[in-house]
Amino acid sequence: MIYLGCDHGGFALKQTICEYLHKQGVAFTDCGNTILDNEDNFPDFVEPVVKGVVSRADNFGILICGTGIGVSIAANHHHGIRAALVHNVEYARLARQHNNANVLCLGGRFVDTKTALAIVDTFLNTPMDTNPKYQRRMAAACKEL
Ligand code: RB5
Repeated sequence: MIYLGCDHGGFALKQTICEYLHKQGVAFTDCGNTILDNEDNFPDFVEPVVKGVVSRADNFGILICGTGIGVSIAANHHHGIRAALVHNVEYARLARQHNNANVLCLGGRFVDTKTALAIVDTFLNTPMDTNPKYQRRMAAACKEL
């Protein structure tokens, strides 16, 4: 399952991605915001996405705010979340191959629709690289202090 969340800065792009996934027959859960509310706050939409993502090992999340920075900071607070702020398709590929990222963060004000949909496709369809060095590095990166 793919869980999506956004604030006002990511609302338009989140709607576009939901329509795109629907057309592709990909199952997803829209965790809001479901309306454009310029006073909403991105952490409110990170929480339900994070809960959904950690509920199964093969779930993914997509979080969008104006820059993608706020949602990535908020998501990475949570155990089991590996959120990556992605700007292009190459970042998306590497976030999956090298970092096994399970949450894709996008800046709704900084990425065009065509690029964003290509990023989503790449993120959802690229497995982690099986080279043990990547597993080892991510295990160390995610170790609790
Ligand atoms: C909201 O204006 C904006 O600050 C927010 O969407 C996000 O970019 C925060 O990191």
